[in-house]
Amino acid sequence: MNNITRYGALQRRLHWVVVVLVGSQYVLQAPMKAAMSSLQDDVQLTALDFLVTTLHTWGGAAIGAIMVYRLWLRWQNPVPVGNGRLHGLAGGVARGMHWGFYAVLMFMVASGTLHYYFDQHWVASWHERGEWLLLIMIAIHGLAAMLHHFWKKDDVLRQMWGSGPQH
Ligand code: HEM
Ligand code: HEM
Repeated sequence: MNNITRYGALQRRLHWVVVVLVGSQYVLQAPMKAAMSSLQDDVQLTALDFLVTTLHTWGGAAIGAIMVYRLWLRWQNPVPVGNGRLHGLAGGVARGMHWGFYAVLMFMVASGTLHYYFDQHWVASWHERGEWLLLIMIAIHGLAAMLHHFWKKDDVLRQMWGSGPQH
């Protein structure tokens, strides 16, 4: 347990970059599905299909790379879960959720890559299951952050918010 009050500035920035990138993966969901069925049916890709597949695959790769880097940053820096005030079960659940995010996002990158680049179409249904699991996790995690901020009025959200130094 520690009393570090915030994640490092780079960790905070990268957290929100990943939120935006993951959000874009969901926004591109329908056109990505359409482009993929054109690809599988050997139909010529339109310029829009090409743009969507490029954004989705490179966006996914960027998420994977950033998550690996964030793992390293997390290992290098103290982890301020709940400002050191989330003990026992609450702290355990928060940490479990964080590790879950690392695992599910890497799973999404791996399953998407197998499907797209290695023609392993059976993994598509797992990519879709992962998509739902991730959505549920984001809802719980985002709601918990909001409850801390607006209901408990503690500093949990501020640990991950804003720029400036760590202390
Ligand atoms: C964290 C990263 C990723 C997220 C959150 C994500 C999310 C999604 C979502 C929401 C869909 C729509 C699925 C559906 O409703 O059927 C999708 C489809 C797809 N994704 Fe990803 N994806 C990620 C990474 C990747 C990567 C790295 C690749 C390939 C290199 C990839 C390849 C695909 C393909 C080929 C489809 C179409 C699947 C189909 O035809 O059913 N994804 N992804
Ligand atoms: C794609 C969506 C999201 C992902 C993948 C994600 C992932 C993570 C991860 C992995 C951590 C642990 C810190 C680290 O290892 O760097 C974290 C912490 C945190 N996230 Fe998110 N997050 C997402 C969305 C959100 C949203 C929408 C909010 C706020 C409404 C939020 C607020 C926070 C806060 C306050 C922390 C620090 C909490 C603590 O340490 O107990 N996150 N997030």
